[in-house]
Amino acid sequence: MSLQIPHREKAGGRGAATKAVILVGGPSRGTRFRPLSLDLPKPLFEVAGHPIVWHCLTAIAKVPHIQEVCMIGYYDESVFRDFIKDASKEFPQIKIVYLREYQALGTAGGLYHFRDAILKGKPERFFVLNADVCCSFPLNDMLKLFEDKDAEAVILGTRVSEDAASNFGCIVSDNHTRRVLHYVEKPESHISNLINCGVYLFATECIFPSIRSAIKKRTERPRLVSYPSSENLESSFFQDDDEETKNEVLRLEQDILSDLADSKQFFVHETKDFWRQIKTAGSAVPANALYLQKALQTGSKELAKPSANILQPVFIHPTATVDPTAKLGPNVSIGPRAHIGAGVRIKESIVLEDVEIKHDACILYSIIGWNSRVGAWARVEGTPTPVNSHTTSIIKNGVKVQSITILGKECGVGDEVRVQNCICLPFKELKRDVSNEVIM
Ligand code: GDD
Repeated sequence: MSLQIPHREKAGGRGAATKAVILVGGPSRGTRFRPLSLDLPKPLFEVAGHPIVWHCLTAIAKVPHIQEVCMIGYYDESVFRDFIKDASKEFPQIKIVYLREYQALGTAGGLYHFRDAILKGKPERFFVLNADVCCSFPLNDMLKLFEDKDAEAVILGTRVSEDAASNFGCIVSDNHTRRVLHYVEKPESHISNLINCGVYLFATECIFPSIRSAIKKRTERPRLVSYPSSENLESSFFQDDDEETKNEVLRLEQDILSDLADSKQFFVHETKDFWRQIKTAGSAVPANALYLQKALQTGSKELAKPSANILQPVFIHPTATVDPTAKLGPNVSIGPRAHIGAGVRIKESIVLEDVEIKHDACILYSIIGWNSRVGAWARVEGTPTPVNSHTTSIIKNGVKVQSITILGKECGVGDEVRVQNCICLPFKELKRDVSNEVIM
């Protein structure tokens, strides 16, 4: 059954008012980002020297005529207060607001719940960005396609391997017109390797009626089973006796996009640039590498200058101290007040605030949590995965383990100890060699 999408007048062109929404989720999500999300909400975790959500904002700030960015989630109000204060200074042309859902309303439920706030100022269209993706966010290219086609919706797509495709929303499109012909969220069998990147541009006068139709459909056949999300919305929402609450939980992917494909004005912009999800804690390492490489390509002044001991790209926070004999890079971020000793080697890793790495230690494919200490001649290492792989797990001795080694906050690694492919929860002291373990 298709949705009734009203006919739309031609859009207002380049100068038309535009907004953006960033879906930041809430504390019950991001569980795969543990142990790092135990201490910091995932959207605020720093990759390439900035919170994940800052990278979304930076891309949005490059779109002309963006008036406002609404971050929608169900974290406590206080969580993003400092971030918004700082970002508002950095992007003074954009008003940034946080809109809190009273519970997880799903990727479309929050949009609908806050429709009055989104529609304020009469934007003709608005972007929606999943906060948990790492991408070059080609928003202006999406906008161009939107205008050229007089579209009702544009989705960002990318090609992945056939094996990986069913972990994402899959798009069947007309190669010539770029029209979306068919959309299926995480299909059970292969339908396409063009997948949904979690970035959209919607015409305001089309998307809200579409959501309203989906709500109506829901009311007509209410007892739906849970959705196939990577971190399922609790199915108990559907057992709630409160009809209003039940009907407010809506997913863009399952409830709206498939029907939008029938509207004929739904198009896909396929990016050839980088794209990754940031789901597991380990996926912060490839995301860090991709954003650092982008910073290098765009000549960012934030990166450390290349030298015999700095293999670009490397980000070193101005308050960190790095011994000149330490060799860093490529793809390394060093956080505030970290101390890196003599003869240390760090590659493809993130070192967080207040970490101390003693002399001659080696850190490869790892994340070293806040306030942790790594002893002299110690080795903390993960295993590289293929650049275009969309997973951070590997099979070792027949067992699935994380390819990236992660030390949670305030961990200690003794002198000469080797930690390999391990996830270490906060406050652990590692005094002997460990590999392929979760240390609790
Ligand atoms: N505000 C809010 N409220 N945000 C939410 C909610 C919610 O109830 N549920 C999820 N989100 C946010 C998450 O924080 C994340 O940024 C984004 O919405 C998508 O999260 P998931 O629901 O976990 O979906 P997914 O990541 O498994 O799949 C989605 O993204 C893929 C690309 O990364 C789908 O859109 C797929 O089709 C897509 O391929």
